[in-house]
Amino acid sequence: MRRQLLGAIAMATVSGLSLAAAALAADEDPKLVVNGEIEMITRAPAPEHVPNFSEVTSGWLYRTEETQALQMDDFENPGMLNVEQAIADFNAPAGPEGQSCSTCHESPDVLRGVRATYPKWDEEHKEVQTVEMQVNECVTERMKAEPWDYDGARMVNMSALIASVSRGMPVNVAIDGPVAPTWEKGKELYYTRFGQLELSCANCHEDHYGDMIRADHLSQGQINGFPAYRLQNAGLVSVHNRFKGCVRDTRAETFAVGSPEFVAIELYLASRGNGLSVEGPSVRH
Ligand code: HEC
Ligand code: HEC
Repeated sequence: MRRQLLGAIAMATVSGLSLAAAALAADEDPKLVVNGEIEMITRAPAPEHVPNFSEVTSGWLYRTEETQALQMDDFENPGMLNVEQAIADFNAPAGPEGQSCSTCHESPDVLRGVRATYPKWDEEHKEVQTVEMQVNECVTERMKAEPWDYDGARMVNMSALIASVSRGMPVNVAIDGPVAPTWEKGKELYYTRFGQLELSCANCHEDHYGDMIRADHLSQGQINGFPAYRLQNAGLVSVHNRFKGCVRDTRAETFAVGSPEFVAIELYLASRGNGLSVEGPSVRH
């Protein structure tokens, strides 16, 4: 394991991915309060179905004080500009009947609570749906418009808007009933070793969170903060996009954004964060 991690470090350095060493946050138990009013739960008792942790922790805790501060104020959080753009899209008519999201959903605020329960079962389509899939269902089946690119700017922005109105609410994703087989598949993938480095998600995010890897402070790889504004990309990154990056770092062929594999991992990972606050759009380096 150590050898493999060293391999990952060497690989990252070779490909120039390595970042400047980040100073660890000085405050041992920092509190995340956004705009002085939205109190985020960044530590929670681990859900029963996550036996290998006693506590689940937000990725925010692992960032530098500087990066942490950006997420504490909407005027500093660059991801809030994407949210602004999504508000415009929310009111923009499309399709043959010139409907907009607001035709049926009045305002983004009525979608409060949605982010906390996704991915979830869709009875009509008999499938587990992510927020992006649900939005596209509305776009194509209700507005009769062209589908949005799963990982395109419009979709990532809308996903940030939908997350933003749920900020502070604890993630509460169901894992039983009809979603159970997808959840099991996600769990299996989480523990599968990928790529030349033969690393599973768990090898890094479960066995080594809190450690430094290629000058980076490794978190539990939670997704309660997504979409995340990544300073390194100077842009908002969807959860599947983040998965892609992590799979690629094991030197494996990655699954596609929106693929059943990533939907399953998303469901499983979301459930590992049950009890943490919805934070999106978060700020990461
Ligand atoms: C013609 C009416 C209509 C339009 C236009 C529409 N929706 Fe919907 N939307 C619905 C209905 C009805 C549901 C509930 C169906 C369901 O739960 O499967 C829904 C469900 C949703 C949900 C899930 C809510 C939940 O509680 O799980 C989201 C998110 C959503 N819509 C977003 C959007 C966005 C974003 C747009 C614009 C791009 C949009 N919708 C446009 C009718 C519409
Ligand atoms: C070689 C180690 C490694 C492996 C293997 C790995 N990751 Fe990561 N991952 C990282 C690093 C480094 C970061 C950035 C720092 C952090 O948040 O941990 C990261 C970040 C993340 C984040 C963002 C967390 C946040 O709060 O911003 C998610 C989500 C994530 N990984 C999921 C996964 C998944 C899913 C897998 C398996 C498919 C995986 N990772 C495999 C190293 C790894």
